[in-house]
Order: sequence, then C-alpha cells, then structure tokens
Amino acid sequence: MADSYAGLSHHYDLIVTSGYYDYDAYTRTLLDLVQDRRLLLEVGVGTGLVCEELLRLADTDLVITGIDHTASMLAQARSRLGSRVRLIQQDVLHMALPTQYDVAFSVGGVWYHIHDHHQGQSQGHTMLGSHLLSDDDNSQALAHLHAALRPGGILLLAAQGPHVNHHRELPGGLLYSQHIQALGDNRFIKDYFVRKHGRTVAHQRSPYRLFTQDEANSLMEQAGFRHERVSNDGLFHQYARR
Ligand SMILES: C[S@@+](CC[C@H](N)C(=O)[O-])C[C@H]1O[C@@H](n2cnc3c(N)ncnc32)[C@H](O)[C@@H]1O
Repeated sequence: MADSYAGLSHHYDLIVTSGYYDYDAYTRTLLDLVQDRRLLLEVGVGTGLVCEELLRLADTDLVITGIDHTASMLAQARSRLGSRVRLIQQDVLHMALPTQYDVAFSVGGVWYHIHDHHQGQSQGHTMLGSHLLSDDDNSQALAHLHAALRPGGILLLAAQGPHVNHHRELPGGLLYSQHIQALGDNRFIKDYFVRKHGRTVAHQRSPYRLFTQDEANSLMEQAGFRHERVSNDGLFHQYARR
C-alpha cells in the first residue's frame, strides 16, 4: 500500500496548524454545508484535525468515518480521536466501504481546489488538484467515491491557495520549506522539508496534478458528480452525487 505522507507525518500537525490551513474556518463552513446530514466520510483524514474540529463544533451527533492510506498519519488520528471516528487504512484507488454516506469531504486530501493565480479567489475560479496523476486513476478513485455516497449525497472539496515556493519558521527552532517543480502537462512535484540548524529532519516528496476548470468539470461529470456551488467564503466546492 502506498504511504504518501510517511516522511512528513511527525511534523505534519506543527506545519499545518501554524498557518498552512485554517481548520476553524474550514470546519465552520463544512458544518454549514453539511446541514442536518449525519453520516460523513473524510477522504484523506490524515492526523484527524478536521474530524476533531467537527466533533467539537457540531450541534448534532455526527457519525464520521475517515480513510487514509498512510499508516503513520492514521496512527496519530487514532490517538487524537479514539473511537469517536471510525478510521480505516485504505487507498481511495481501491476504496470499498460497507456503508453509503450522506456526505464525503476532503481537505487537502486526494482532491482539492486551488485558487487560480490569474483569476484570484472571486467567483470560484479554481483548478482541481489531485494526488493521483493519471486519468485512469482519477476516474477509478472517483468511481469508488461515487459508490460510497448515497444517491443525493454530496461531495465537498476544500479550496486552498496555490502551491508556491516558500519557507517559514516553525516553533522549536525548525524551518519549514516547500519547493515546487513543474514536470510539464500540469504535473508537478512538491518537496516539503523540515530543517533544524541546517540539517534536514524530515522530507516528503509529493507528486500532484492540476486539472483546468473545464477538465475538472468533465472528469467530475463523467464520474457522476455535478458541480453545484462554491461556499460564500470560497472554502468549499459542493458537488451533487447523481
Ligand atoms: C495534506 S494531508 C490532509 C489531511 C487532513 N485532511 C487535514 O486536513 O489535515 C493529505 C492526506 O491524504 C492522504 N492521501 C493521499 N493520497 C491518498 C490516497 N490515494 N488514498 C488515501 N489517502 C490518501 C495522505 O496520506 C494524507 O494523510
């Protein structure tokens, strides 16, 4: 089984909770869009940060399942969430789940929207990012996602800023940096580094691909998902499962 975040997992929380993602904002918008639906699936649950916030902020009893293929990320999710969320080690490419869910969502997981450099954040002009590089893998994984949602269910994909080269300090004297390499044909490699006193203490290489908005719409349509709306704050794209 692939293990795409193993290299970074021990520093993951530190990186993403110190300015990379705004979990409070993501979670509040998610809950607005979820409304009174209760059965939720997080694709690429990671260390469980979104689930933890959902459980903290929700008024109702949510029943959440999270899947991820990286054992060391899931181990942290288990110690964070205990039995409050059902956690399953699965690759979305081969995902098979016993239940159909009302909502599937992902925050930086397998698919995510990226605000377009040229169009800005307004009007929901984004590209679709994917950790899966080939057309076939994207179609296959989306077919599994479609099967995991009940008819009339919704898919919520988070949007984030563009991947750019950058570095910043982390607590504990650590330095975080990321470097993007274009491979052509809208395929990229992103390298994440954590360094201390000039020495690399963690490195993760993560390939990804971008789909233009038209390509994304046709990929999603073929998989049985219709783009319905973008949340007012631009943080989530909502698809209806046909
Ligand atoms: C950027 S992290 C996001 C984690 C979490 N959603 C959060 O917001 O902190 C991406 C996660 O997606 C998982 N992932 C990537 N590709 C996957 C795949 N094909 N199947 C299952 N999980 C995958 C990685 O292992 C990683 O834990």
